[in-house]
Amino acid sequence: MKTTWLRWSVMTFGVAVLGGPALAQNGYIGDDTCKICHQDLYDSYMQSGHPWMLVPTNRQQPAADLYPHGVPLPELPQGVTWDQVDYIFGNFSSGHGYVVGTNAEGTQGIVLNRGFPYNFCVRCHTTGYDPTGGPTNGITGSWVQNGIRCEGCHGPGEQHATSFGGNPPDLNEARAVCANCHYAGTDVERIDFTPPEPDQEGFGSFGHHPQAEQLLRSPHKNGDCSWCHDPHKSTFFPEEGGVIKHCTDCHDAKQHPLPPAMAHVDCVECHMTEGGGHRHIHLFQIMTQPIAAADNVYVDETDQKTYWNVDANGNAFLTLDLVCLTCHNGQEAFAMTLEEAAAEAQGIHVPTVLTVDIKVNGQDDFLLVQQDQQVSVDASVAPGASQNVPATWWILASTNFGWFYWDPIFDGWLPGLYPSLVDFGVFEVQDYNLYNDTLPPGTYSFWLAVFANDGAMDVDVVPVYVLP
Ligand code: HEC
Ligand code: HEC
Ligand code: HEC
Ligand code: HEC
Ligand code: HEC
Ligand code: HEC
Ligand code: HEC
Ligand code: HEC
Repeated sequence: MKTTWLRWSVMTFGVAVLGGPALAQNGYIGDDTCKICHQDLYDSYMQSGHPWMLVPTNRQQPAADLYPHGVPLPELPQGVTWDQVDYIFGNFSSGHGYVVGTNAEGTQGIVLNRGFPYNFCVRCHTTGYDPTGGPTNGITGSWVQNGIRCEGCHGPGEQHATSFGGNPPDLNEARAVCANCHYAGTDVERIDFTPPEPDQEGFGSFGHHPQAEQLLRSPHKNGDCSWCHDPHKSTFFPEEGGVIKHCTDCHDAKQHPLPPAMAHVDCVECHMTEGGGHRHIHLFQIMTQPIAAADNVYVDETDQKTYWNVDANGNAFLTLDLVCLTCHNGQEAFAMTLEEAAAEAQGIHVPTVLTVDIKVNGQDDFLLVQQDQQVSVDASVAPGASQNVPATWWILASTNFGWFYWDPIFDGWLPGLYPSLVDFGVFEVQDYNLYNDTLPPGTYSFWLAVFANDGAMDVDVVPVYVLP
């Protein structure tokens, strides 16, 4: 996987210099052809942003219902009329897109909302961009299709299509392709971050679409974008189901409880905060020191630019002003200082009350297993405020042939309905294995209960049915 990332960065660098070596070749056939055999994928992809990134107008006002999801056409800048406009872009998610066309001085290929040429932008907003072709409508280079079409990620599909689905485009390369466009600044090795000017409001900026460089510095660096995203479905419009894996599909929600007053806050709202006007930041890890975003930077000697701090292991962390203070500002929730946030953030997921957790094959709920299937039972205990308080521990299994209790001295199961430990101080237990074997057919349930002498208690049970 490391090598994948290496290739990402190499490709990114290559593209920055050459303008897209992989895409500059021939053999493109266009997504209308892909559609013939991949209709379902095509339909969902047309509801997502990529193909809509650059839409030609033919210098006429497009139909009002051009965009999916009821998104309206953009409003034209003051004094601009549709007969000056060649393209709309960036409109898909917001209806606030920009337009490219001929300005008042008669120069074509200008972003009319801003007045600068579109040249630099076009490579990431098209398919099969070739900087040596063109110019096209006043824009440097030529391209095969407007927007990011099937072959914008999969590469030319001619061979594949003409061999009736043989020679499929290389998906490994397709993954690497995300990083070609979804990075900010100069490369994916460093995270660009510009602190605010001394007289400016706000937190500072990661720049545009820095997802790849952030992911590379996150605990998910060994994964790739399609761990969590289906690139053929929209993420901006959640009902399209573009996010295919949520935090709690891979991380146990029960092991990450929050103070009860904040139980309604979703993992993403803290760990991928949009704080400070950013999009969802893909760093995932949160620091617990009182360091402001503007101070979490270093200046690179070689280019004198500011970059986000990275620790000795290559990991970058979200600062607490981006996370807690965006809600704890006296409006959405009571105001906090950075120091207060740091004190509260430390150990925020450590339960304050005694909690027990028993898992069978990693599951919390009722489980059906085959007779020859391994059954693994693990116990966890988080003491909360009851650390070392004497307690009665019950570790039990009910079976078709009676009750069993787990005996700590025997380190195994004995018949009978007895407590496992009496007047024994509560201590932290993490995934202690209690059983790992097959079971005869029948109905079972595994119990873990701790009753502390200070009144704190918790019970957990997992029923298991072993098929005959
Ligand atoms: C003539 C029909 C046809 C056309 C046209 C076609 N494909 Fe395919 N494609 C197939 C078939 C058949 C498969 C194999 C499906 C399977 O085994 O699940 C396939 C598989 C794929 C795969 C998956 C390969 C893998 O390793 O799983 C990708 C990616 C793909 N096509 C992309 C495209 C793209 C991009 C286009 C347009 C440039 C396109 N296809 C056009 C028929 C076609
Ligand atoms: C390195 C590739 C790259 C370049 C160069 C690039 N963009 Fe983008 N652009 C992207 C990506 C990736 C996204 C979508 C990701 C996101 O919105 O987080 C995007 C999205 C946009 C959006 C839509 C934002 C929205 O709110 O929906 C606009 C507008 C835009 N770009 C304008 C430009 C302009 C203008 C330029 C040239 C000055 C430019 N881009 C250059 C990659 C690029
Ligand atoms: C934004 C980049 C991107 C675009 C645009 C895109 N794909 Fe894909 N596609 C991928 C990636 C990445 C995978 C591998 C996903 C995975 O590993 O789970 C993939 C997988 C596939 C597969 C095989 C697995 C599956 O989901 O069935 C097919 C077939 C395919 N794409 C066809 C297409 C077609 C046809 C289009 C245009 C309608 C298209 N793709 C547009 C990136 C893209
Ligand atoms: C561990 C899961 C995960 C991984 C890996 C991941 N993302 Fe995301 N991404 C998300 C989630 C969750 C959202 C926010 C969805 C929401 O709630 O709107 C998101 C949002 C986005 C958005 C929409 C803009 C925004 O910020 O809301 C873009 C673009 C994006 N991701 C691109 C990428 C790219 C490119 C990669 C690979 C470099 C990647 N993501 C890797 C989970 C992930
Ligand atoms: C050629 C450049 C390019 C490539 C390659 C590319 N993207 Fe994008 N991506 C964009 C642009 C530009 C947008 C903005 C679309 C918009 O705002 O309408 C975007 C938007 C997105 C979005 C939000 C779209 C939505 O409808 O929710 C996600 C998620 C995303 N990209 C993920 C990926 C992933 C994953 C890959 C790799 C498989 C990838 N992108 C490859 C340029 C690219
Ligand atoms: C596809 C599975 C997957 C998804 C989805 C996923 N993660 Fe992870 N996550 C992992 C893996 C694997 C690790 C690395 C575990 C390790 O290093 O031991 C990890 C590590 C982490 C870490 C660092 C762990 C630590 O102990 O410090 C954090 C924090 C984290 N993820 C948060 C999240 C959040 C928040 C989300 C949702 C936005 C999420 N993850 C989505 C698989 C996933
Ligand atoms: C999405 C918004 C949001 C974010 C982000 C957020 N909080 Fe909260 N938090 C709340 C709300 C709402 C309450 C309820 C208190 C109120 O109504 O003012 C709350 C309450 C709390 C409480 C009081 C708990 C109690 O039992 O009374 C603490 C402590 C707290 N937050 C700490 C944090 C810390 C530390 C962070 C950052 C790691 C954080 N919060 C991030 C919205 C948020
Ligand atoms: C109110 C903000 C907030 C919310 C919501 C939140 N977290 Fe956290 N999370 C934190 C903070 C702060 C830390 C760092 C705590 C520390 O280092 O002591 C953290 C640490 C983590 C870690 C790494 C350390 C560990 O305990 O393993 C993981 C994994 C994690 N959170 C997962 C999740 C998941 C999954 C969710 C949703 C079920 C979630 N978090 C919801 C603030 C939050």
